Amino acid sequence: MAKKKLVVLSGAGISAESGLKTFRDSDGLWEGYDIHEVATPTAWKRNPALVLEFYNFRRRNVKDALPNQAHHILADLQEHFDVQIVTQNIDDLHERAGSKNVLHLHGEIFKMRSETNESLVYPIEGDIQIGDKADDGAQLRPHIVWFEEPVPMIENAIQLVKSADIFMVVGTSLVVYPAAGLVDYAPWQIPKFIVDKKIPYTSPLYNLTKIEKTATEGMPLLKELLLDIK
Ligand code: APR
Repeated sequence: MAKKKLVVLSGAGISAESGLKTFRDSDGLWEGYDIHEVATPTAWKRNPALVLEFYNFRRRNVKDALPNQAHHILADLQEHFDVQIVTQNIDDLHERAGSKNVLHLHGEIFKMRSETNESLVYPIEGDIQIGDKADDGAQLRPHIVWFEEPVPMIENAIQLVKSADIFMVVGTSLVVYPAAGLVDYAPWQIPKFIVDKKIPYTSPLYNLTKIEKTATEGMPLLKELLLDIK
């Protein structure tokens, strides 16, 4: 029998127990940086060195982090489901846990691209400095979707959510659009689950189970529920 399609929307909360700080749990300061100074196109124009420093710092943090049990359970679920992950996270912890299908809505910390040609994308492990150039001679910038920028992968994500047999949300405050709007594309009748240490607000959803626990506490419980409906 074909596996059911389990579509997952994940956010910073799934990586919190790996030691990566979420944004909205940290008083508007991200590791001590004001978001408007480091994660907008205006910030990049004003002070690109500061923006690079911020992402260099975050890249080192992610490198030192390990996937936690919630990432691992999602990878294990591939044995029973066609698991499709849509993540707002720029870390690679889903992939390192073994998840095969991961769509990064907000970009990836281990990629850089030309600031003038978005199709020139490069893998990057270490730090990036002012003067590091892409093949078109332009400065390299983080391959990140900043606030106020369009989200190129949103249409793909919408199609995935529309085609889900089961939909789950883990570790996101659902306040940043368009990602937050994905919830409303899930077919109305399918089973839906939210795991979060503080369940976020959604429009009323039919067939929704809320698990108000941290990701590593909630995912083992959710796995049991999912195996009952596989
Ligand atoms: N387990 C489960 N959920 C947790 C945990 C945990 N250990 N710790 C925090 N959370 C939950 C919080 O309750 C909150 O609902 O994770 C969510 C984190 O919310 P945000 O910090 O707003 O993260 P996210 O929703 O991913 O942010 C969306 O905004 O910061 C920008 O572009 C960035 O992709 C990001 C987007």
